[in-house]
Amino acid sequence: MRPEILRHPAAELASGAADVFVERVLSRDGVVRVALSGGSTPRALYHELAKRSLPWDRIEVFWGDERGVGPDDDASNYRMASEALLRHVPIPEERIHRIEGEREDAAARYAARLGDAPLDIVLLGMGSDGHTASLFVGGADLESDETVIVARSPAPPTRRISLSLATINASDEAILLVGGESKASILARAHAEITTGRPTLPVARVSPRRRWLWIVDEAAAGQLDTKEQETG
Ligand code: 6PG
Repeated sequence: MRPEILRHPAAELASGAADVFVERVLSRDGVVRVALSGGSTPRALYHELAKRSLPWDRIEVFWGDERGVGPDDDASNYRMASEALLRHVPIPEERIHRIEGEREDAAARYAARLGDAPLDIVLLGMGSDGHTASLFVGGADLESDETVIVARSPAPPTRRISLSLATINASDEAILLVGGESKASILARAHAEITTGRPTLPVARVSPRRRWLWIVDEAAAGQLDTKEQETG
């Protein structure tokens, strides 16, 4: 699926992404199942969301991936999102579904927690190697039909638990958040792979059911040739 691309000046990336996330949640009735991402770019969004008004009594929070560590570890995506967002909003504890990265059986337990219902909104970041969630080139089985997989990261912590590509693509919509010059080249390559119909990078293989939105800053978008696709 070709992504819709929303560009923002770097200083407005987090607030622009927060505007979109709030609008997407409010556009849905009932319980909204969202998956958070790790990474410094998504973290800036979480700080912004902590200041916004959202219906936290009907949001179920999951994660797209987690490092193979416990909740108090500095590397934990759960800890990062808790410190940046979840501790500051009125979300009931039972609506927070942590991936128990410290457990050997984390993937099976998390898959059971997720159940069969598709996620509504999956937030994703992208590494400078084109990985997303913990779907690393050569470190994850992108063909897996499992709900949750164990993956390997080239950078420590190497053990990762991740939504499979199949689960991400079964979601209703995904939002990719990318900022910085260092991502410009790989983002352009991912976009070219999608438009030529030969996606190989994990981020280029993402294709949600209804909506695929890239929210990028000017530096990350610097090598994109996509005038026809952009909004905002
Ligand atoms: C993680 C994330 C990972 C992250 C990207 C982008 O566990 O680290 O799931 O996919 O989103 O690596 O991270 P930055 O925004 O920090 O570059």
